[in-house]
Amino acid sequence: MIEVAFYDAKAYDRPSFERCGGQRDVRFRFLETKLNEDTVALAQGCDAVCVFVNDAVNATVIDRLYAYGVRLIALRSAGYNNVDVKHAYGKVHVVHVPAYSPYAVAEHAMALLLTSVRRIHKAYNRTREFNFSLNGLTGFDLHGKTVGVVGTGKIGRIFADICKGFGMNVIAYDLFPARESGIEYVSLDELLARSDILSLHCPLTDGTRHMINAGAIERMKKGVVIVNTSRGALIDAEALLEGIKARKVGAACLDVYEEEADVFFEDRSGHIMDDELLSRLISMPNVIVTSHQAFLTEEALNNIAETTVNNIRSCFDNDGVCDNELCYRCGNIERCKKERKERCF
Ligand code: NAI
Repeated sequence: MIEVAFYDAKAYDRPSFERCGGQRDVRFRFLETKLNEDTVALAQGCDAVCVFVNDAVNATVIDRLYAYGVRLIALRSAGYNNVDVKHAYGKVHVVHVPAYSPYAVAEHAMALLLTSVRRIHKAYNRTREFNFSLNGLTGFDLHGKTVGVVGTGKIGRIFADICKGFGMNVIAYDLFPARESGIEYVSLDELLARSDILSLHCPLTDGTRHMINAGAIERMKKGVVIVNTSRGALIDAEALLEGIKARKVGAACLDVYEEEADVFFEDRSGHIMDDELLSRLISMPNVIVTSHQAFLTEEALNNIAETTVNNIRSCFDNDGVCDNELCYRCGNIERCKKERKERCF
């Protein structure tokens, strides 16, 4: 039996993980707390930890896990910007779930966009109070508008296809363009200047942090709609608020927020909100916030649990090779052990 400390457990996680783990001799110790320097001790006695997007797996946490004999960090997410992967190299293996339902995220991005431009969030609240007035609900057609997609990986490509289905003009920016895709690639500057709608689907890295800042917003069209289902820190939220206040940004649809770690995923309805920036954004009539729920479909949850359990089993079985182990950028590309299907260390 492989024992796994499952941090930041939510009610929606348990059924799929209990079922998949039970079938493969993996036992999850569900912990409601997030993994950080104060809670890492709860992993003592476990072989692995299973973490999500807001667990802080920094160098100190990794050293403590290593000292406790924990040999695997199994991310149940695609993004891994919250794990110091370089520090983990040589100590604790790190695996993730590269794809579980890119459709879930791309469809949520479109759901947010439609909700925003057709004012569905306003209409829903009105009709619940038998207010059937249409004043202030005028939207605009997506058909014929230009959407700029930043990052055309699994999710960005599906989002682009959905947009094409709506008759939108799709342009894209990616560090590594998919040339055969038929997508029109442009520079980031041109994308910002031409897009009526901007949707972010690239990972959070040192190079993409605050890629949407005051300067970028300055270069955008007046009335631009910004959709972010990727990672909060891609956007400088202060600059976004200023852009909204200046009427430059027409609307923002945010499934992620830079400082979401202590707020999202929890019921804060009975609390005073300390984050004034988030409060101000939420108070805007043209801002829609969902709480990092783009991934949350039945299909995605089942795929996440299945892949995570497979990842864990692969790491502890036989040769320990797992296709979903992250690259630690060991600098040994030509002789990369992963390429040779061997363990990284
Ligand atoms: P992917 O790895 O398939 O695609 C990412 C794309 O971004 C690649 O084409 C890559 O070349 C491109 N890229 C990398 N650096 C870039 C840069 N500096 N500028 C422009 N493009 C760049 O990833 P996938 O599966 O499409 O996921 C995208 C992001 O969505 C993830 O990084 C994650 O942060 C986020 N995500 C959010 C979820 C949610 O529930 N809100 C759920 C799953 C993923």
